[in-house]
Amino acid sequence: MSMEINSLGPVLGAEVVGVDVRDLSADGFKAIHQAHLEHCVIVLRDQHLTPEEHIAFSRRFGDLDFQVLDQYSLPEHREILVLSNKAEDGKPLGLPDGGRRWHTDMSYNEIPPLGSLLYGLEIPPEGGQTKFANMYAAYDALDDETKQRIDGLRAVHDYVHHYKDADAKSGGKRAKMTEEQMASLKPAVHPVVRTHPETGRKALYVDQGHTIAIEGMADADAHVLITSLYEHAIQPQFTYTHTWRRFDVVFWDNRCVLHQAQPYDQTKYIRHMHRTTVKGTRPV
Ligand code: OGA
Ligand code: MN
Repeated sequence: MSMEINSLGPVLGAEVVGVDVRDLSADGFKAIHQAHLEHCVIVLRDQHLTPEEHIAFSRRFGDLDFQVLDQYSLPEHREILVLSNKAEDGKPLGLPDGGRRWHTDMSYNEIPPLGSLLYGLEIPPEGGQTKFANMYAAYDALDDETKQRIDGLRAVHDYVHHYKDADAKSGGKRAKMTEEQMASLKPAVHPVVRTHPETGRKALYVDQGHTIAIEGMADADAHVLITSLYEHAIQPQFTYTHTWRRFDVVFWDNRCVLHQAQPYDQTKYIRHMHRTTVKGTRPV
């Protein structure tokens, strides 16, 4: 079967079928890379990967990042973060409630990731979709006055703040961060509008999960601006909702999309996923 790329929606998302990423030619890789740049989110259907194979495919796009919270990484493969509501002997196997706010992964790092590859091993029959918002389209649709106002602004992205909030919402069930983990998590400052290093297009780079302040702006004003920007960006005309099939590998571009996990009934269903994260470059 030859590789096919089918768009999944008008604004972002494409599926790639007829390919086994374990065995990808240089041309096949080029086509997937192009599709990723063009569609921002690609869904590689029907992949059967060991953790090693998942890591090897991810590494074709660059070096991998490690999660600060290694409580939820695979012990043998720290490059893989587990998102799961499964437990073994009462111990959670993964992060049970990750990504519930609109966010771009690890934007609290000075060098945030290029993209993430999430592999669906067990999928609930209802709920548990992932939503994506196209931040190029969201930026393009702003009026000129807003574009002028935000071009050149720099925002503060923080994880500890977000983590404590998510932990409180989960009733204190998240793994406690060690002092060392907290100390390594200094907030980072990034442009509110970034230029994608490969496509050259401008994209909004603020989110609900991590963006907590804007340099030189009073907190209350910054909060209003940040909220209005991401609420603008997550309107239906800029988004795609991915309904998972088992063995999908979904590869999103963290430089130009936000994403959000949808809830599902954790008392009835299992959702079990592995994620790798490819290193990026400093946002400019
Ligand atoms: C992630 C994430 C969303 C989901 O893995 O970074 O936000 O739907 N996942 O699980
Ligand atoms: Mn995420």
